[in-house]
Amino acid sequence: MALEIVVVFALATGRTLVLPDKYPMYLLGKGGALQKFGDFYDISSWEKYLEVMPMHEYLKKEGLTGGLKNKERPPGNATTFDRQKPLWDYIRRATDVFPVGPDGHVVAFGLPEHVNTSQALHKYHPEADAIIDGRNLLRYGSDLHARKSLHFTSMYNGGKRYLAHFYGFLYFADQKVDAFMKRFVRDHMHYRNDIFCRATKMIDLLRRNASDKNGGYDAIHIRRGDFQFKEARLEIEGIFKAVEDVIDPGSLVYIVTDEKNSTFFDPVRDLYRLRFYEDFYKAAGLEDMDPNLTGMVEQIIASGARTFVGTYFSTFTAFITRMRGYLGRNPGFYYLENFKYALQSPGKNFYASGANFVREWPVAYTNLDLA
Ligand SMILES: *[C@@H]1O[C@H](CO)[C@@H](O)[C@H](O)[C@H]1NC(C)=O
Ligand SMILES: *[C@@H]1O[C@H](CO)[C@@H](O)[C@H](O)[C@H]1NC(C)=O
Ligand SMILES: *[C@@H]1O[C@H](CO)[C@@H](O)[C@H](O)[C@H]1NC(C)=O
Ligand SMILES: *[C@@H]1O[C@H](CO)[C@@H](O)[C@H](O)[C@H]1NC(C)=O
Ligand SMILES: *[C@@H]1O[C@H](CO)[C@@H](O)[C@H](O)[C@H]1NC(C)=O
Repeated sequence: MALEIVVVFALATGRTLVLPDKYPMYLLGKGGALQKFGDFYDISSWEKYLEVMPMHEYLKKEGLTGGLKNKERPPGNATTFDRQKPLWDYIRRATDVFPVGPDGHVVAFGLPEHVNTSQALHKYHPEADAIIDGRNLLRYGSDLHARKSLHFTSMYNGGKRYLAHFYGFLYFADQKVDAFMKRFVRDHMHYRNDIFCRATKMIDLLRRNASDKNGGYDAIHIRRGDFQFKEARLEIEGIFKAVEDVIDPGSLVYIVTDEKNSTFFDPVRDLYRLRFYEDFYKAAGLEDMDPNLTGMVEQIIASGARTFVGTYFSTFTAFITRMRGYLGRNPGFYYLENFKYALQSPGKNFYASGANFVREWPVAYTNLDLA
């Protein structure tokens, strides 16, 4: 989500996007494994629209030449770092840390100079209230544009992350620009083609496996492992109680889960034909695939399901519902009763309200293709 924010920000401001070199990513960095965004996205597809530069090149071009704040050079004149902290400490000293985050602010583009507060925006464009949601406005103007390098930290001001949707944080006054940015994310920030190709092999096997049932499979994402929202940690019977009326009993259901104990699912095995990654990945020829891609492959499988039911609060589920929205499919349902139809109802639910990461909003994937 933070990556979508910085990519759209760079695109909107005409800035060069500096991306980190390989580093340990949350849940993907086990055993010291390093990843870079290019492992998951086709960055060359962004480069038709904006300039992208890896961190080591930026450090060589701007850091070593004394081009940054106080002419400070990178520690040890290095351009690559084994330890992350010295690098990011340096970047925070030598560049301008982006001053606001999505919890308190919305960053606005294309507004006249006098429309520089949320009150002024309310008068100018009352409908923007739904996105502002009580936050302050930061108008991107000449003062910010004059800063040479802006750094989006993962823990700015000591603790907060850019854990929000780009379309609920970056506001484009011009509707056509807004739609362009959303299309850019849809069309260029999807997972790499080779990840889609692998997922498609699984989808093909699942469809064939479900052949007795209109060639369709359904999918449920059940997040349990590291999940901090205990209210969403239901037992399996509770989960399937909410599922019954949207997925017919007897259906072939692909389960996306981080639950390692397969007996957890036993109580519903007579009700549904449950299928898992383990059932098909060998037949799909995915034995040699980098295991760090499994989560992405499973998101794509779920996005291809007839009906999808997900875990509320989970950003992993949320991206599945966004992809389904992009594809014109019913985005899906949640097994938590209070939120079951959150993606179905129009009205306030259409807009991204505030710094909210717990789900997607239809505004992300609806009416993007202007005539
Ligand atoms: C993927 O993750 C595993 C551990 O989960 C790690 O050993 C491996 O190096 C990672 N692969 C890559 C390409 O980083
Ligand atoms: C870094 O390079 C500069 C310029 O060549 C030099 O003056 C400085 O001593 C170097 N610093 C370190 C820690 O090597
Ligand atoms: C907003 O614009 C008005 C009129 O141009 C100006 O007087 C005011 O200082 C600006 N406020 C901020 C917060 O930039
Ligand atoms: C579907 O997959 C299950 C589990 O792998 C297997 O037992 C069954 O034979 C398959 N059915 C068809 C029609 O492919
Ligand atoms: C797996 O789950 C079952 C039922 O939920 C439980 O009885 C069993 O103790 C669990 N096994 C492990 C190894 O956690």
